[in-house]
Amino acid sequence: MRYSKIVGLGHHVPETVVTNEQLSAMMDTNDEWITERTGIKERRWIDPAKDTVANMAAKATRMALERAKLTEKDIEFIVFATITPDYFFPGSGVLLQRELGLESIGALDIRNACSGFIYALSVADQFIKSGMYKTILVVGAEIQSTAIDPTTRGRNTAVIFADGAGAAILQPNEKPGILSTHLHSDGRFAEELYVRDPGSSRTREERQPEQILDTTHFKVVMNGSQVFKHAVVRFMEVINEALNANGMKKEDISLLVPHQANLRISQFIQQKMELPDSKIYNNIMRYGNTTAASIPIAMSEAWAEGRIKENDVICLAAFGSGFTWASALIRW
Ligand code: ACO
Repeated sequence: MRYSKIVGLGHHVPETVVTNEQLSAMMDTNDEWITERTGIKERRWIDPAKDTVANMAAKATRMALERAKLTEKDIEFIVFATITPDYFFPGSGVLLQRELGLESIGALDIRNACSGFIYALSVADQFIKSGMYKTILVVGAEIQSTAIDPTTRGRNTAVIFADGAGAAILQPNEKPGILSTHLHSDGRFAEELYVRDPGSSRTREERQPEQILDTTHFKVVMNGSQVFKHAVVRFMEVINEALNANGMKKEDISLLVPHQANLRISQFIQQKMELPDSKIYNNIMRYGNTTAASIPIAMSEAWAEGRIKENDVICLAAFGSGFTWASALIRW
């Protein structure tokens, strides 16, 4: 049996730190509100003069390659999870391929928001298991700071979403590796967390340049309480699905790395699963919610801190726009 194994992890976050105090100077909010509701203390915002989704992904990739003792030339395929690509099209996968100096390998973009990285990991896992590729780069990278409304009008989401990139390199192995992935969606709730425009369902008139500054363009619409209610249920379901599929119990998990949506959601799951602090990884306090990048950034940091060790059972879980939700169980 051929399994896939993560042989290298890397991440990159922009240099600019934006604290809750700094946000309070831009909009009617305060550190207490943000900390109490989301757990976030600071986040990173890009410098538009130098950072792009693809070049942040390239920096994360280079860290992952170095840790795996591989080079760019070893990469045979790219799976790129993002909802904030550098261009409307083509996707950021090809821009990353160009950035890495790779000539003609395939590159696939995945648009599954907060679940994007686990979806991407699952796709890469199938390609490795089937024998199609031997080294696949899976990335999650986002720039959300350029789309948020940094005024009181946008405060319900501007304080949450932020920028960053994470990468994982997958290779085949006789032993697992990735034990399972489970992917789900329920499009009935698409509009509970979404960006309406620029959407192709608009008429030609609605898409004229003078309409581009319409307030729906790039505006994240979020029904926070609906997202919270569904997230806590789906996170638990999909984690249990992963455990059941592998004949494991929650006690078998060495480290749970949840999508960094909101510290309150992570704490709710931790409480329900009765996990000690040592068995869950959170870094939303420092980076905010970086959507598809949050899990690989968290994994990369957890690995560097020695919290992911050989033979550990690592559980990844995510929930987000779509709604979509997903889990992956990994034997390290
Ligand atoms: N600062 C101060 N006040 C604010 C802010 C802010 N940044 N944002 C909103 N408010 C105000 C609102 O205007 C509202 O005021 P009003 O009562 O005068 O109308 C009040 O705070 C309460 O607003 P709610 O939206 O009801 O706030 P809630 O208590 O539900 O908290 C939150 C919002 C944190 C988003 C919460 O709903 C939540 O935790 N939802 C989970 C969803 C989530 O975390 N989404 C982010 C990630 S999405 C994902 O990754 C899956």
